[in-house]
Amino acid sequence: MKTYQTTGAFADNYKFLIGSIIPRPIAVISTRNIDGSNNLAPFSFFTAVSASPMIIAFCPMIRTSNGEFKDTVKNILREKEFVVNFCTESNYTKVNLASTELPYGEDEFKFSGLTPIDSEVVKAKRLLESPIQFECEFRDMLCYGKVPGSGSLITGEVKLVHVDENIMKDGKIVTDLLKAVGRGAGNDWFKTDSRFEMERLTKAQIQK
Ligand SMILES: Cc1cc2nc3c(=O)[nH]c(=O)nc-3n(C[C@H](O)[C@H](O)[C@H](O)COP(=O)(O)O)c2cc1C
Repeated sequence: MKTYQTTGAFADNYKFLIGSIIPRPIAVISTRNIDGSNNLAPFSFFTAVSASPMIIAFCPMIRTSNGEFKDTVKNILREKEFVVNFCTESNYTKVNLASTELPYGEDEFKFSGLTPIDSEVVKAKRLLESPIQFECEFRDMLCYGKVPGSGSLITGEVKLVHVDENIMKDGKIVTDLLKAVGRGAGNDWFKTDSRFEMERLTKAQIQK
């Protein structure tokens, strides 16, 4: 057994988090930009918190490239709402593209070839290609630092749940029909019955 202090660089701690806490489910969070356009980004630091009221949480970190909040956070703090969509075997390559760092206001739905559809109680769009969508009202934000890599915890109360009935049986979601995709360390991703690898491409690589 080797023992490590956690006082070192972000990258060292991050490596332990993403290597230890696996497989991680992926929330594909949709928000509205200030000009009314759409923003979409995946977050694998994501979990359920409370059933009644129905609360979920995800954890965006301060962007390492510029020390700012990610666009998702800026939008949630202003609009007080968001949609949680889910990553599955039929959308994961496009969800991966939606993680590209685009300038604020550039639409990751368009960039990654995904389809926004109207929500019922929030202004942020739902992801058509997700068989489950949660319309959420922002509840709380806890911040654990201001430097690149510092995380925060954002909770949302789920106001409406939309589920494709093709993935349900007897009123319950069926794992084999949902075909969720999760995240591991590095380029590791998980299907619910196996593991695979996929690179996270930079914008320059994508546009070649
Ligand atoms: C599968 C996957 C999971 C991710 N999970 C997280 C996460 O939990 N926290 C985080 O800060 N960034 C995470 N990222 C990176 C963000 O998606 C990325 O920084 C994105 O550009 C943020 O977009 P935004 O600025 O539009 O909010 C993840 C990326 C991928 C591909």
